[in-house]
Amino acid sequence: MPEENVRVAVRVRPFNRRERERNATLIIDMNGATTQITDPAGADEPRKFTFDYSFWSHDGSKEDANGYYGPDTSHPNGKKFADQKKVYDALGVAVLKNAWEGYNSTLFAYGQTGSGKSWSVVGYGINKGIVPMFCDDVFKQIEAKKAEGDKTEFEITFSMLEIYNEQVRDLLDSSRQKGGLRVRQHPKLGFYADGLKIVPVSDYADIEKRMEEGTQNRTVASTNMNATSSRAHTIVGITFVQKFQNAAGEETTKTAVTNLVDLAGSERADSTGATGDRLKEGAAINQSLSCLGNVIAALADRSSGKNTRVPYRDSVLTKLLKNALGGNSKTIMIAALSPADINFDETLSTLRYADRAKQIKNSASVNEDPTEKLIRELQEENEKLKAALASGNLTMVAGEEDDDLTDEERAQIKLELEDQYKSILDKNAQEMEDMKKTFEERLKEAEQKGGGSGTDFAAINEKKKTVAHLSNLNLDPQLSGHITHFVEAPEVCIGAEGDIAFKGPSVVAKHAIIRDDGGKFTIEACDVTNRLLQNGKAVVSKQPLKHNDRLIFGTTQYFVFVNPKERDASKEKFPEVTFEMAQEEVAKKSGFDMSGENKSREDALLQEDMLEIMPAVEEANAISQELDKKMKFESMVVSPEARGELSGRTEVMIKATNIETKHEWIWPKVKFMNRKYVMQEMYNDFLDGDDPWELPPEKDPFLDDINAEFHIGSVKIWLQSTSYMIAMKEQLDIIDYRGYEVGKINIELVPCNKSGKEFAEDEVFVEDPSELVGKEIFFKLKLENGMGLPTRFTDLYAKYIFNHEPKPFETKKLGNTINPQWAFSQVHGYAKATEKDIDFLKDGAIMLQVWGKQKLPKEKKTVNTKDAMIKGNLTKGQTHNVNTNNKKVDPEKVKYMMKCAMLEKKTQHLEQKLAAMKKMLEEAEKHKKKKLTVDLIQKIYHAPSNDAADKCIALIPQEKDDTSSESSKSSSSSSSSSDDEKKEKKKHKRSLSARERKKEKNKDQEPKRPMSVTSIHSDKAVLKPQKRNESPKPQKRKESPKAKKQTSDAIKSQNKSSSCVLL
Ligand SMILES: Nc1ncnc2c1ncn2[C@@H]1O[C@H](COP(=O)(O)OP(=O)(O)OP(=O)(O)O)[C@@H](O)[C@H]1O
Ligand SMILES: [Mg+2]
Repeated sequence: MPEENVRVAVRVRPFNRRERERNATLIIDMNGATTQITDPAGADEPRKFTFDYSFWSHDGSKEDANGYYGPDTSHPNGKKFADQKKVYDALGVAVLKNAWEGYNSTLFAYGQTGSGKSWSVVGYGINKGIVPMFCDDVFKQIEAKKAEGDKTEFEITFSMLEIYNEQVRDLLDSSRQKGGLRVRQHPKLGFYADGLKIVPVSDYADIEKRMEEGTQNRTVASTNMNATSSRAHTIVGITFVQKFQNAAGEETTKTAVTNLVDLAGSERADSTGATGDRLKEGAAINQSLSCLGNVIAALADRSSGKNTRVPYRDSVLTKLLKNALGGNSKTIMIAALSPADINFDETLSTLRYADRAKQIKNSASVNEDPTEKLIRELQEENEKLKAALASGNLTMVAGEEDDDLTDEERAQIKLELEDQYKSILDKNAQEMEDMKKTFEERLKEAEQKGGGSGTDFAAINEKKKTVAHLSNLNLDPQLSGHITHFVEAPEVCIGAEGDIAFKGPSVVAKHAIIRDDGGKFTIEACDVTNRLLQNGKAVVSKQPLKHNDRLIFGTTQYFVFVNPKERDASKEKFPEVTFEMAQEEVAKKSGFDMSGENKSREDALLQEDMLEIMPAVEEANAISQELDKKMKFESMVVSPEARGELSGRTEVMIKATNIETKHEWIWPKVKFMNRKYVMQEMYNDFLDGDDPWELPPEKDPFLDDINAEFHIGSVKIWLQSTSYMIAMKEQLDIIDYRGYEVGKINIELVPCNKSGKEFAEDEVFVEDPSELVGKEIFFKLKLENGMGLPTRFTDLYAKYIFNHEPKPFETKKLGNTINPQWAFSQVHGYAKATEKDIDFLKDGAIMLQVWGKQKLPKEKKTVNTKDAMIKGNLTKGQTHNVNTNNKKVDPEKVKYMMKCAMLEKKTQHLEQKLAAMKKMLEEAEKHKKKKLTVDLIQKIYHAPSNDAADKCIALIPQEKDDTSSESSKSSSSSSSSSDDEKKEKKKHKRSLSARERKKEKNKDQEPKRPMSVTSIHSDKAVLKPQKRNESPKPQKRKESPKAKKQTSDAIKSQNKSSSCVLL
C-alpha cells in the first residue's frame, strides 16, 4: 500500500464586522503555496509556511444578487480569491474521486472559533460548503452513470453525530440521550459509535432534509446548553457502496466511508486559567481537541522515524478519527485562519498545527471484496464471538492486559467486554442483513420507521414568508434561524408553559405576552421581575414590537422578531440580526464601551472577552438562583498589577461569592467558562427531572475549595534604589484585584555583601548604576510586617519571584492577626553584575503577592439565593460593575513614591560631594594654591563621609604648588606626598569598606592624571579626569536641576572670589 501524506489546505476569511469597525490590521498574506504571518507587535520577519493548498478568501470578492460571494475581477485580489466552488473543486472533488475508487476519506477543519471552519465544511445558505456540494455531486454522478446504462447498484447512507464534553450525541435522534452513545472497538472496522443512526438516503433532497434535522437537533441542545456549538465537534458520515459483478463474475462490494469533520474552535493560546482547577469536568470539554493535537504530534514523530505511542484512546474524537489519522484513509485538513491582528497567537498556533499535520503519512487501501466473502467473514467472526461469550473466555483488546487488576476490576472489565461482544455481534448481524437486502428495501424500511422528525421544512420556510414569527439567534451563526415560533393568534403567551414553550434559566411558566392588534404587535412581561430584554433594554411595561427587534427571554433564549408584512411594506433596509449584535446591545446598555474605534489590540481582546463573559455570568446567576446554590457571580476588569503579575494584559475575571458565608473566590475567565458548562448540565438534569440532579460536592461547579489560598493583594516593589546602592525603607499599599487598598506593608531594600552584611549606604553609593557592571552587587529585601489586612483571612504570607528565578520566595504563614510580623529578609544580587542585571535593577520590580486563607464563619445565616440577588440587583443583568476598576490606589503611585525617595537620597549624596568640592576650593584659595593633585581631589570627591572629606581638605596646605609640565605635575605631586599625607591615606583607607578599598587600590595603580577644572567661568563647570593625550575642553553632563543649580551657585561664588584656574 503506497503511503500518502495528509494533505493540508489553509484558508483565510474576510474581516468580520467588528474587525472592520476597529480597522483591524491584516496579518496573513498568501503567495502561491506560501502563507506568511506577521506579528503585529514584533519587529521579527514574517513567518512562512507552505501547504498543499492556500485559499485566499479575505478580499477580492463581491456578493451577487443571490448573496453568493464570487470573485471580483475588478479587485486587485480578484484572481487570487477562492470562493466556495474553488475550494470544493480542489478538495471536495478529490474526496469524491476517492469514494468512487473505494477509498475511505476524511476531511476535517481546524481553527479558532469564528475562523471559518463551518463556512468551508457546511457553508451558509447559497454559499454551500463541501458537505452539501459533495452530496449533491455524488447523486448527480450516480444519475449520470445510470443514464449511461451502468448496472452497478449504488447505496448511500448518512449519519451525523456531535461530540460534546466527551459524549457522543446522535444528531438524527431528537431524544436527549443521557450519557451519549458508547464508543466501541470493532476488530475490523475500528472504533464506532454504538447505536448511531445510519440512514439510507435516496437523493440530495433527502440528505438536505436529514442535515436540517440534525442541525435543528443541535440547535435545540445548544440553546439549552448555550454556546456548546463552538465547543462541539460535528462529524457527518457518508458511506458510498457500489455493488457490481467483478471480472470473475462474482458479486462484489466496494465501500468508501467519507467523514466530514467540523471541529470545535481551538481555544485561545493563552487560556491556561483552568489548569489547577479542582473540578476537572469543565476542562474535559476540550479534551478531544487537545488530544487530537497530541495524536497529530505523535503521528508526525512517527513519520520522522521515531517510535512514539499514539494516544488515540485518550479521547472520543481521536478514537473515532483513528482510521482517518493513522490508518486506512485519505485525509485532508483545512486550517481556517482569522486574518486580524488580535488573533495573531491563535492563528500562528493553527499554522503550526497544520504544519505538523502535513507530516503524517497514511496508507489507504481500496475496500473492495466479493460480497460473499464479506458475509462469510462476518459470519465466522460472529461464530467466534458467540463461542467466546458462551465459554466466558473474553480477551481484552491488545495492549490493555494488565496484571495489576483487582478481582473487582476484572469482573467489571468482563462485563464491559461481554457488552462489547454483544454489540459487535449485533453490528455484524445488521451488516449482513443490510448486504442481503436491496437498497430499495432499506429505503422503504427507513421511511416506515418515520424517516426522521417528520418536520416539513419546506412548508415551514414557505410560511415564514408571510406569518410573523420568532426566529432563534445562536452564538454559532451556523445554528441561527433553525427554530421558528409562529405568532398566529391575537394573544400568544411565551414561557416554560406558554403557547410558545421553551425552558431556560430565568424563564418562568408564563413569561411574556405578544399581542397582535390588527397587524400592530406589542410585547409585555407577565411580571415585572421576569427577565425580558428588547433590543438590550429591560421591558417593564407594554412595548410596541417591531420587525427585527431582538428579544431575550431569561438569560439564554435569544430571538429576533420577524414581521414579514411590516418588512415588505417598509422601504427601510433591515440589517441581518446576529446573536453578537444582540449581545453587544446588552453590553452597551450595561455601560460597557463597545465602540470599535481607536481600540488597541489589548482593548479589542478585552472587548471580545467581555462579550463572552457578560451573558455567561448572567446565566450562571440565573441557574444559581433557580437551583438555590447560594452563589453569586460578578465580572471584573483586572489589570496585571492588580492580579499580582508584572506583565500581561488587562483581563476579565469573575468574583464568585457565597452569599451565606461571604467567602469569595476569584476565577480566571477560562475556569469560570468551564464551570459554567457543568452548571448548564446540572441545570438541564434539573429540568429533565433527573434525580439526583445535584452533584456531589467534589463535582459541584458552584463550589470551590474553602481551604484554597486566596490572593489578598499585591505590592509592586521597584528596585531602582539598589542600582545606586541606596538603602530604602518604605511603607507601601497592598492593593487588591479591584485596585483597592487592603492593607500596608513595611519593606526595606538595603545594600549588603553576599553574606548579607549590610553596608552603610554612604560607603557604597554610586552616581551612575553603570559603574556597577562587572562588580559584585547584593541587597537585602526585608519584609518586616503587614498592617491592617482584612480580618476575614488567616495564615497570611507574602511571596514573590525575583527576576525569573524558578522558585518563589515566601515569608512564614501567620494566623489570627491583621498585622503579621513576618520579619523576613532575603539577600538577592549578583557576584558579577552584567549590564542586563543592572538594567533589571534600574527599571525592574518585584511583584509581591500577599496570600491568606479565608476563615470559617462563626455563624452561618440561611439566605435564599433569589432574594439575595434581587437585593444585590443582580437579577436584571447588573452583573458587571463597570466602575470596579476605578482604582483607589494608582499602581503608578508606588513607582513614583519609591523613585522620589530614591532621588532625594541621591541628591543628598551629590550635595554632600558638591559641598566638599566647594570647601576644597575655599581652602585652596585660602592657602593661595594654584594647583591641587588629582589624587587629593579624587579623595575629597569620593570621600564616603563629610569627616573623611574634611580630613583630606586639611591636607591642602601641604600640597606642592608647582607649575612645571603637565605630565610631571601629577607624578611629582603624588611622589612628593609627605609622610603625614601617607599616614592620612592609610587611615582613610582603613575607614573604607572592602569594596571601597578595592576601588582605592585600583585607583592607586592607575597612572595619575591631572584633574582639570574647566570652564570655571561657565555654570556648566565639571570636574573630570582628563584623558591621556587630550587637551582640556569643556564637558557636558546631565545633572538633576537641583544639583545643577547647586553646582552653578558653588562655582559662581567661587568665581567671584577668585580668578585662579586650577589646571
Ligand atoms: N470565506 C468566508 N467568506 C465570508 N464569510 C465568512 C467566511 N468564512 C467565515 N465567514 C463568516 O465568519 C463567521 C464565522 O465563521 P464560521 O461559523 O465558519 O466559524 P467557525 O470556525 O465554524 O466557528 P466555531 O468554532 O464557532 O464553530 C460566520 O459569520 C461566517 O459567515
Ligand atoms: Mg462552526
